[in-house]
Amino acid sequence: MAVVSTESLPIKSEPDVVTVRRRVREVTAQLGFGLVDQTKVVTAASELARNTMIYGGGGVMSVETLNGPRTGIRLTFEDNGPGIADVEMALRDGFTTGSGLGLGLGGSKRLVNDFQILSRVGQGTRVTITRWK
Ligand SMILES: Nc1ncnc2c1ncn2[C@@H]1O[C@H](COP(=O)(O)OP(=O)(O)OP(=O)(O)O)[C@@H](O)[C@H]1O
Ligand SMILES: [Mg+2]
Repeated sequence: MAVVSTESLPIKSEPDVVTVRRRVREVTAQLGFGLVDQTKVVTAASELARNTMIYGGGGVMSVETLNGPRTGIRLTFEDNGPGIADVEMALRDGFTTGSGLGLGLGGSKRLVNDFQILSRVGQGTRVTITRWK
């Protein structure tokens, strides 16, 4: 597998989340994902970017395009926020420490082929998702 291109986008504000959504839409379209699959990746990215902004205090998303033998997209969301004390609990539908519905993490996980989360209390959170074409 080769990582063909990589770029990094800041996630500090609501307009940054809009930019993230637009960029993920563009890259998945360029890779030849169908509209439904584009929307799945955009939706997952939107949820994770929002978490990065709200709970992580801001961070970055990196975009990698993958190819050979398969085409895919890998997105990594990183922040240096407070971290998540219990990741398993955070992934459960309905669990929230904020004012959301608690569906973002679990929902994102179901929209992609691979979902990795690494979080350390007091250090931050990194979520990596991959969707294959
Ligand atoms: N980057 C992060 N840093 C710290 N805590 C996080 C981060 N992302 C998620 N969490 C924690 O995990 C919980 C669950 O996240 P999830 O996205 O599933 O739900 P939500 O953001 O609370 O609500 P929704 O996404 O439905 O609006 C959050 O309430 C928060 O406590
Ligand atoms: Mg959320």
